[in-house]
Amino acid sequence: MRGIKIIGAGMYVPEKEADNDWFSTILDTNDEWIYSRTGIRARRISVDKPNFYMAGEAAKAAVKDSGIDPSEIDLVLAATCSPDFYYPALSCLVQYETGAVNAAAFDINSACTGFINALDTASRFLEDGDYRNILIVASERLAPHCDYTDRTASILFGDGAGAAVVTHSDKPMWSYLNAKGDYFKALYCKVDHSRSNCPLLGEDTVPEGVIDSEAKGHFLQMNGKAVYKFAVEAMETAVHKVLDKSGLGIDDIDLYIPHQANSRIIESAVKSLGLPEDKVYVNLERRGNTSSACIPTCVAELRQAGRIKDGMTICLVGFGAGLTSGAIIFEQ
Ligand code: UT7
Repeated sequence: MRGIKIIGAGMYVPEKEADNDWFSTILDTNDEWIYSRTGIRARRISVDKPNFYMAGEAAKAAVKDSGIDPSEIDLVLAATCSPDFYYPALSCLVQYETGAVNAAAFDINSACTGFINALDTASRFLEDGDYRNILIVASERLAPHCDYTDRTASILFGDGAGAAVVTHSDKPMWSYLNAKGDYFKALYCKVDHSRSNCPLLGEDTVPEGVIDSEAKGHFLQMNGKAVYKFAVEAMETAVHKVLDKSGLGIDDIDLYIPHQANSRIIESAVKSLGLPEDKVYVNLERRGNTSSACIPTCVAELRQAGRIKDGMTICLVGFGAGLTSGAIIFEQ
């Protein structure tokens, strides 16, 4: 049977806090607008630490919490959409940082759904017994992606990293993963090739209307309304699909951990799904949206607070650029 157990969790948040009042000094915005539309009061910005540093710190904390030796890790999976390098993979840097000398390593990029996709992948690697301990880290440094003249998108995002060490369990697990590539334009950040010195290269051309050619391509581009609509529907669909697979009901779940994009998105999905509010964990008020890192930082906080206990049935649900979405139910 495919099942996972979280045996360690860790996180890293940068020191620098950028609150809504700071945004009102650089943009035509204010705390009242941002908080009432998003539930966010502040987010952390990694001023001088690269993504791999944050990922490494979170990963080391997770390995320490698990009590295993780094040499016992068989695979490092890193979820990120904001790496420091095109290559090598972030997971290779994390392998080096943690001393996981016996591990294989590769990355997964499904933006904010990254941790869900990585956990699902890990469970399949663990299933046949060839891999015993897998370190998953989800880490994002989104500040360099954001356009700080764009008040709609830049106020949402923060930097940070979360990690978990997982091992096989005989307890059940179910997952539902989805992608809608036809909506990719709703949220993207284009690679900037303008610094190439290849004499043969011209400007990239794509069919008319595929992406906004006037947009500042190397910054995150977002159609907030389209993502909002997708997010609420995707969360509902993913939770329904995974519950259907499991045969469990809404009330059989002890803890829901949703992607932390916007408290209105979470509230809307919670209401239409009829989830008990006290079972839904939300931490975005002083963190903002840290993309793939949101869910594992929630896991790390909850575990540290003793709120993740053996035998609990936990549902993780996420959505993000792609547009991707997914949900996992597992018994810890
Ligand atoms: O991980 C996935 C990441 N992305 C998301 O989760 C994004 C999902 N979308 C959202 O969270 C919301 O769409 C936003 C928070 C981005 C925007 O909220 P909204 O309620 O959809 O606002 P809006 O875009 O409809 O804008 C309403 C008004 C506009 O002014 P006018 O045209 O009515 O005069 C905007 O220009 O609010 C204005 N506005 C702002 N005003 C003050 C937009 N951003 C701001 C701002 N401060 N930061």
